[in-house]
Amino acid sequence: MLEVRQLSHTFQNGTEQTPVLKEINFRVDKGEMISLLGSSGSGKSTLLNLMAGLMKPTEGSILISGQPIEKMNENQLAEFRRTHIGFIFQSYELIPHFTVRENVELPLVFHGVKPSVRKEKSMKLLSQVGLADKTELFPSQLSGGQQQRVSIARSLITEPAIVFADEPTGNLDSKTEQEIIDLLIDLNANSGITFVIVTHEQEVAMQTGRIIHLKDGELTEDTRGRAITGPAIPAVSGNEAFMNEEQGT
Ligand SMILES: Nc1ncnc2c1ncn2[C@@H]1O[C@H](COP(=O)(O)OP(=O)(O)OP(=O)(O)O)[C@@H](O)[C@H]1O
Ligand SMILES: [Mg+2]
Repeated sequence: MLEVRQLSHTFQNGTEQTPVLKEINFRVDKGEMISLLGSSGSGKSTLLNLMAGLMKPTEGSILISGQPIEKMNENQLAEFRRTHIGFIFQSYELIPHFTVRENVELPLVFHGVKPSVRKEKSMKLLSQVGLADKTELFPSQLSGGQQQRVSIARSLITEPAIVFADEPTGNLDSKTEQEIIDLLIDLNANSGITFVIVTHEQEVAMQTGRIIHLKDGELTEDTRGRAITGPAIPAVSGNEAFMNEEQGT
C-alpha cells in the first residue's frame, strides 16, 4: 500500500542546508494503522508531508499503491492526491463560512460530483462520526473534538486508500483525544482504509497496530502496538465499506 525507500530530506534556505530525514525505509500494508512517534523536531511532520505528496523528497522514493509519487508532475500529483489520499490536520482546517456538511462535501465539489450524491455521502459519514444532528451548523458552533470529527469525515469522503493525520488530537483535552482515537481505530477496523498517524504521545501510539519510532530524522525502531490491525479485509466497494459494522472486527 505504502512503501518508503531510502528516503532522505534536506531543507534548503538560501545557502543554509538543514538535513531532516536520513535514509528512511519501511512498508505499510493495506488496512494497517500505524503511528509515527518521536519528539518535537524529530521529522515526523516532514515525513508525513512527503508521504502525502505535499512536498518532494531530496532523495529516495515513496510508493502509494505501487506508484512512485515523487516522479509525478504537479497535475498528476494533485489528481492522485484527490483520488487516493486523505489528510487530517491538527487544527482541522475547516472553512468557517461553510456549514459542517458543506465542509465535508468540498472535496467532492472538486470531483464534479452532483449535489444529491454529495449530500447522501456526507450525511452518511457525518452520522458515522456522530454528528448527524450538527450538519447544518458552522464550524465555530462546534467544540474542538466535533470540529475534528468533521475534518475526519471530510478526509474520508473521496474514499481514499490511505489517510494521513498530523497530531490529530494535538489541540484536544485527554478525554476528547481518546474519543477521537477510538473513532479512528473504529474507522480503520470497519473500512480497511490504511491510517498513518503522527503523534508525540506514547499512549496514543500504543493504541495503533504498529509504531515507527523517529529520532533525529532516523527510523530507530519499528514495534507493535496494542490494536489489532493488519492486512485488510477483502475489498468492499463504495461507501458500504464505511457502514458495514460486521467487517474487520
Ligand atoms: N521549511 C523548513 N525549512 C528548514 N527547516 C525546516 C523546515 N521545516 C521543518 N524544518 C526543520 O526540520 C526538523 C523537523 O521538523 P518537523 O516539523 O518534521 O518535526 P516534528 O517531528 O513534526 O516536530 P513537532 O512534534 O514539533 O511537530 C526541525 O528541526 C525543523 O526545524
Ligand atoms: Mg510536527
